Amino acid sequence: MTPSAPVTSVHADGVALVRLSNPPVNALSGAVRGGVVDALQKANADPAVRAIVLTGEGRGFSAGADITEFGKPPVSPSLSEAIASVEESPKPVVAAISGNALGGGLELALGCHARVAAPDAKLGLPEVKLGLLPGAGGTQRLPRLIGAVPALKIMVEGNPIGAEAAKAAGLVQEVAADPVGAATALALSLAGSTPRRSRDAANLGAREAFEEAAVATLKRAGENPSAAAIVDAVRLAFEKPIEEGLAAERAHFVRLRDDPRSKALRHLFFAERAAAQIPGLPKGTKGREVARAAVIGGGTMGGGIAMNFANAGIPVTLIETDQDALTRGLERVAGNYATSVKRGSLTEAARDQRMSLIKGAVGLEAAAEADVVIEAVFEEMGLKKEIFGKLDGIAKPGAVLASNTSYLDVDEIASATSRPGDVLGMHFFSPANVMKLLEVVRGAKTAPDAVATAMELGRKLAKVPVVSGVCYGFIGNRMLARRTAQAERLLLEGALPQEVDAALTAYGFRMGPFQMGDLAGLDIGWRIRKAQGKRAPIADALCEAGRLGQKTGKGYYDYSGAARSGVPDPEVRALIERVSAEQGITRRAIGQEEITERLLLPMINEGARILEEGIAARPGDIDVVWLYGYNWPATTGGPMFYADTIGLPRIVERLERFAAQSGDETLQPAPLLRRLAAEGRGFSSLEAKAA
Ligand code: 3HC
Ligand code: NAI
Repeated sequence: MTPSAPVTSVHADGVALVRLSNPPVNALSGAVRGGVVDALQKANADPAVRAIVLTGEGRGFSAGADITEFGKPPVSPSLSEAIASVEESPKPVVAAISGNALGGGLELALGCHARVAAPDAKLGLPEVKLGLLPGAGGTQRLPRLIGAVPALKIMVEGNPIGAEAAKAAGLVQEVAADPVGAATALALSLAGSTPRRSRDAANLGAREAFEEAAVATLKRAGENPSAAAIVDAVRLAFEKPIEEGLAAERAHFVRLRDDPRSKALRHLFFAERAAAQIPGLPKGTKGREVARAAVIGGGTMGGGIAMNFANAGIPVTLIETDQDALTRGLERVAGNYATSVKRGSLTEAARDQRMSLIKGAVGLEAAAEADVVIEAVFEEMGLKKEIFGKLDGIAKPGAVLASNTSYLDVDEIASATSRPGDVLGMHFFSPANVMKLLEVVRGAKTAPDAVATAMELGRKLAKVPVVSGVCYGFIGNRMLARRTAQAERLLLEGALPQEVDAALTAYGFRMGPFQMGDLAGLDIGWRIRKAQGKRAPIADALCEAGRLGQKTGKGYYDYSGAARSGVPDPEVRALIERVSAEQGITRRAIGQEEITERLLLPMINEGARILEEGIAARPGDIDVVWLYGYNWPATTGGPMFYADTIGLPRIVERLERFAAQSGDETLQPAPLLRRLAAEGRGFSSLEAKAA
């Protein structure tokens, strides 16, 4: 076989060494599945071969089924057929696993008669994260091999386990530094005996223990359809022969694969990876090395940003204006780590190690040694320009100078330096040590390798970086502003905060706009509106009444009682009704569907403008921003994917109606939205162009 074949096979010394070779992750495409069946046939037909070793070339064993094939016409042989050809092989087949054996990859290994893992191996069934269940025998073979309760946990949580844990569970026979060598020896030792298949129900464990775990699982999983399907399939392992279990598993798999929720999750999987591709960057552009960082401003954001560096093992200096502010900043960081230690998610030793990487300093001079400087001071252009002007004289040549600004013009900030090529935005989300989104704001003069540095650094900090162009609020906050405006309008027209929030939580958000506002503090928006000479009559009236949200015990809700989540407050209702009357508005009942549409469709419209202006490169980038920056419910795929599922003509029609009703011209459908709707296309049709 040629080396580029998706499966290679070498017969030597009584062993057929079959390698999956489909970079980068050995996904089990049709060609790979066919290659496995062929290789097994040839090995079994060759009298010189006594045993077979199945392994993966390159980065790992296999990351599972080729997700890009889902929804396309089936290609024979199926994965189940390929696995059956392994399991039914008269000559023993041993899997040699290094790196990832995930999903269908692990299911293929489960079809083997024994498994050897390298110490770095990761074995798991993550299908649940794509809204699926293992669909090639995993729900039947894993419980029969390691017991129903541990198998249920692996499948429902979807997190891989390491080699040693896999050995302890009985999933692999051996852990070996040279898995192919060890698998070869094991395979030869099995030659001649009847191969052991993962089909024996004796290992399932006690039925009662499984039922108990199933109840707990279903309770935790809520409406997650994958969890219910997994429980059902594993239960069949107790009740029916494996063939029936496999058939039921298949039926569940097909149903879930075609469910819009799984399609949405698969879209986000690829969108997240596509967002790493930066259009227009010269090929081969590499990021600059970042060995040391500085963060200016140790407030809400700065402390969390510094923690990200320490967590990634990068020394960082937190810079403040005076010792008191610095002490407060460092204490907040220490407090956050203490909470993690208390919760058991961080050891004391790890905490000490991380804290030792965070140095405090007063004065910007301390940024001189840093390869990247992130400014997180107050949101004031004058102050930011002053700081960047000074940094210009302090930072070492080639240092990347980033601002964490939420809204401000990164080009103007860059103009305060003599090196605008080194300046960009790195916009973290609150809490900065938790939220995974990082908007990398690329200015007009930002150098390609500075953008690449921020993207690579973002990944090192365990963030999901997405590139945005310069505009007010970038991708996320610019769209959020549309939602905020509608939320206020809905209150004026007749809705109450709890009704607006309930509409969004029913849609799948963890909280609605007013709960979120109360949590973040209503004074943030108030200050911004004042600076812009804008008004939001109800939000302003609340702030003027001293109701700034949770921190003052009152905002849109009342937090003074025992309920941490806050309760509706008659005073707020009265205030809203008064403001409506002052505006001459006759209040009316507004249904949940209208509320949801009024909140979400203007955001989609703004997303279309953002695409049109080239602020975001792809619709999927916008979806990733909303998933990781604002907890958009993953099962609807993000605003732009969701738009396609509703249908763009309907969105155009609704927006036109909202614009006519309110006289608000910003609600008129964006030209791109109109054009795509008229052409019968969706936003997804723009993805291929951007790739
Ligand atoms: N199918 C198709 N493409 C895949 C893939 C898969 N299963 N897994 C990864 N890829 C692609 C990615 O899209 C990416 O493509 P790109 O370079 O064009 O953007 C490339 O492989 C590399 O992937 P990552 O950037 O994610 O590489 P990492 O090294 O960061 O991560 C990984 C590797 C942990 C394997 C990660 O890719 C991953 O989690 N993959 C998905 C694993 C999974 O969910 N498997 C189950 C699939 S469903 C299944 O098997 C059904 C079965 O039960 C019937
Ligand atoms: P903050 O008010 O909590 O902290 C700002 C800190 O900067 C203060 O501790 C202050 O002492 C310090 N500071 C001011 N001038 C300084 C100087 N010259 N040198 C060193 N330190 C100085 O503000 P927060 O909320 O952390 O915001 C910081 C930036 O991050 C702003 O640009 C904001 O828009 C942005 N941001 C804020 C988010 C949030 O949710 N709070 C989310 C994302 C971005």
